[in-house]
Amino acid sequence: MAGRLEHVREFDPEIYTAIRGEVARQEYGLELIASENFVSHAVLEATGSVLTNKYAEGVAGKRYYGGCGMVDVAENLACERAKKLFRAEYANVQPHSGSQANMAVFMHALLPGETFLAMDLDAGGHLTHGSPVNFSGRLYNAISYGVREDDQRIDYDEVEALAQEYKPKLMIAGASAYPREIDFARFGAIARSIGARLMVDMAHIAGLIAADEHPSPVPYADYVTSTTHKTLRGPRGGIILAKAEYAKGLDSGVCPRIQGGPLMHVIAAKAVAFKEAAGPGFKAYQKQIKLNAAALAEALLSHGYDLVSGGTDNHLVLVDLRAKKLTGKIAEKALEKAEITVNKNKIPFDPETPFVTSGIRLGTPALTSRGMEEEQMVETARLIDLALQAPEDEKHLAKVKAEVKELTKDFPLYADILADLPSVA
Ligand SMILES: Cc1ncc(COP(=O)(O)O)c(C=O)c1O
Repeated sequence: MAGRLEHVREFDPEIYTAIRGEVARQEYGLELIASENFVSHAVLEATGSVLTNKYAEGVAGKRYYGGCGMVDVAENLACERAKKLFRAEYANVQPHSGSQANMAVFMHALLPGETFLAMDLDAGGHLTHGSPVNFSGRLYNAISYGVREDDQRIDYDEVEALAQEYKPKLMIAGASAYPREIDFARFGAIARSIGARLMVDMAHIAGLIAADEHPSPVPYADYVTSTTHKTLRGPRGGIILAKAEYAKGLDSGVCPRIQGGPLMHVIAAKAVAFKEAAGPGFKAYQKQIKLNAAALAEALLSHGYDLVSGGTDNHLVLVDLRAKKLTGKIAEKALEKAEITVNKNKIPFDPETPFVTSGIRLGTPALTSRGMEEEQMVETARLIDLALQAPEDEKHLAKVKAEVKELTKDFPLYADILADLPSVA
């Protein structure tokens, strides 16, 4: 939507005002949600293009609709770029989201009622890895592994023992709130030892993997799924990578099993994002995401915060707030009032409910996208600590908010877009 939105402004001022307000929120806040990022203007433009109008069920070259020549170009480019970026034999770029990508693999790899083994949501896994409230836990027999209580890291011996005991047909590695490197080679060896297939959900760390800042799962996994909008910095959506032998089955797993027409405007934007990820600046960007997370972790430790597993190897930090006598719910709310956006998150063995939690999850991809470095992470940690010293004091939080705005002003993000969006009188 890089542009003036004059048609929306004229026709629908309420929606215009909401969009303008969100641009301002992103511009002047500290965005620390680990699963979010800020896309480039090129990705925004492709997402806002007329490709949204086109029905293109099927795959490029084999569609159920006419007039697909141009969207075939976009989808072919997206697939080829994804394969090259991750050194994969096959790519499907059609899943509308990460959850859809996972569901499509389930459709291909399992029949309803069959068993799979994945990380427990409470230990850092994702809803689609077997939560009883999700399709994955409702339609299939989900067995979960967690993390060790003492160091809060994946216990690969436990994974192996569970695999031997339950003989799952599918194993899943990957997480939503795990701050440490994942040993995909070990997961692959365990899966092979019991004749299971391995799916790696690399949604959170796809950008790090594309830049060789985290070992790739591609050599070890039968299927690799991802979102495109987290560290990878593309539009909101999903992808599936796999060995070529699964191509036909996975194409059907997406359409017709779970989706109809793909979002061609988003697929074009995915292609743009993959081109960016293959470009010269991306490796340095991903390196900086990790350096920033390490700096944020260290600064928080110096302010007396406990961190799950003691620190981070990747883009995220999970803060255990119990020593500060705070809950995730209170912290999230207080920080939001200071325009510091985080999410409350369960920590391993959390005594609190998911609506309260004992933790917050912080990630550095978005702040790194606007050019912030270690120095600004130290400042961010100071501002977080300052806000949390008086989480119920509105005046105090307003003062922190003013400091946040000062900090963000030196790192313009969509300032040009905002300048083009007059407020509605
Ligand atoms: C590991 C993992 N897989 C899948 C998803 C689902 O992605 P989406 O929200 O696009 O459905 C997420 C989202 O946070 C995730 O963290």
